[in-house]
Amino acid sequence: MGAATTVAQNMSLCDKYTTALLKDNNATNQYTLMILLVNTAVIGNYTTTPAPKNAVPGILANGTFDGKAVNLLPYFDGSLLSSNRGGSSGVSVNFLDGGGAEPLKKNLPANDKNSHQYTLLTHLYEFFGVLLQCSEYNKNPAFPAYAGHDMESAHRFMDLSPSEVGYFIQQVGLSAASFGVSQEDVTAVGNSLNKLFGYRCSPPTVVVPEQGETLNSICQNEMCPLDEKARCDLYPNNGTVVEPARVNGTGNSTGNGTGMGMPNATASGTPGFSGAANRMGEGVISLLGALAFVVAL
Ligand code: HEM
Ligand SMILES: *[C@@H]1O[C@H](CO)[C@@H](O)[C@H](O)[C@H]1NC(C)=O
Ligand SMILES: *[C@@H]1O[C@H](CO)[C@@H](O)[C@H](O)[C@H]1NC(C)=O
Ligand SMILES: *[C@@H]1O[C@H](CO)[C@@H](O)[C@H](O)[C@H]1NC(C)=O
Ligand SMILES: *[C@@H]1O[C@H](CO)[C@@H](O)[C@H](O)[C@H]1NC(C)=O
Ligand SMILES: *[C@@H]1O[C@H](CO)[C@@H](O)[C@H](O)[C@H]1NC(C)=O
Ligand SMILES: *[C@@H]1O[C@H](CO)[C@@H](O)[C@H](O)[C@H]1NC(C)=O
Repeated sequence: MGAATTVAQNMSLCDKYTTALLKDNNATNQYTLMILLVNTAVIGNYTTTPAPKNAVPGILANGTFDGKAVNLLPYFDGSLLSSNRGGSSGVSVNFLDGGGAEPLKKNLPANDKNSHQYTLLTHLYEFFGVLLQCSEYNKNPAFPAYAGHDMESAHRFMDLSPSEVGYFIQQVGLSAASFGVSQEDVTAVGNSLNKLFGYRCSPPTVVVPEQGETLNSICQNEMCPLDEKARCDLYPNNGTVVEPARVNGTGNSTGNGTGMGMPNATASGTPGFSGAANRMGEGVISLLGALAFVVAL
């Protein structure tokens, strides 16, 4: 076996697919791969080059997971009091304030660097650079280090359910597959995300090396499976969360808003996100299902 083959076999997923898709495996191209992956997961497939190998509805589109309706947009458009800004309860933040889908379609995080959208999207690029082990992460100004919070803090007031987290992870998997990531690698990433973030009260774990051990459960509502090494005592409120309320009216994140006086939440501030959701491929859904997987982080 030649030296080049040996190196290629040891490459991280980030390095492997940067090389496959963008040729030069440098910091700029690794970051670009994260932009393609994240932007497509968020708004659905938009690129023409590379041409997507499968459709991706996107995290902001209505969908279903495990037969349950999922609608994540209200967490992003300011409809819910679900963001953690340091207080003892959630506040409303519009994360689509940097132009919404339009800049994402141009492979940008936002039009405005001072927007919540810019901060969220760049943090997602950096974070996926950690998860997919980009070799140039934090080594070159073209691939900055993750500058956000731990996953427990970031999602503390969202009360996310297994179908919501499952849908998010599925969109990441569909996005990766659309760029030619193999089914084997998509499954590995999906299961790694599920193991790290899909259980309730997971114990402190190192995800971002510079941050050391942090709390990382994103699935925190009562439907979420309890981590086999659960440490609810380390979580706020002993790991108990409540559904985020809607900004206007009396509903919450499971109410659909009908008759709750919040129609302006979806009518405004969400440019480009009103299209009907596509149907996703059943094959990839089952692929991202329930396989146990040991994370190699
Ligand atoms: C595997 C699953 C997920 C991963 C890896 C992930 C990752 C992240 C990261 C890295 C951030 C940035 C945190 C920061 O800037 O401090 C973030 C923020 C956020 N995530 Fe997630 N997330 C996941 C699931 C979800 C789900 C299911 C939702 C549901 C809508 C969601 C909604 C949000 C929102 C609204 C923010 C902005 C939080 C804020 O700035 O207050 N995430 N996520
Ligand atoms: C690749 O990984 C194997 C096993 O982890 C190791 O023995 C080998 O030295 C590595 N090769 C390179 C070029 O890093
Ligand atoms: C990476 O390679 C691309 C060409 O593929 C080039 O435009 C870019 O400047 C390079 N980035 C770095 C950090 O060397
Ligand atoms: C998304 O990808 C599918 C499958 O390649 C394609 O049929 C569809 O037109 C794409 N949608 C957009 C908006 O590019
Ligand atoms: C949330 O709203 C749903 C639907 O309106 C309702 O059934 C449920 O009791 C509410 N939950 C809380 C905690 O208020
Ligand atoms: C809530 O109502 C206020 C006052 O009517 C309005 O300014 C705001 O845009 C509404 N917010 C949402 C998210 O609907
Ligand atoms: C999602 O579905 C809800 C009703 O279930 C609807 O009010 C909302 O407009 C839909 N959102 C999108 C982005 O299509």
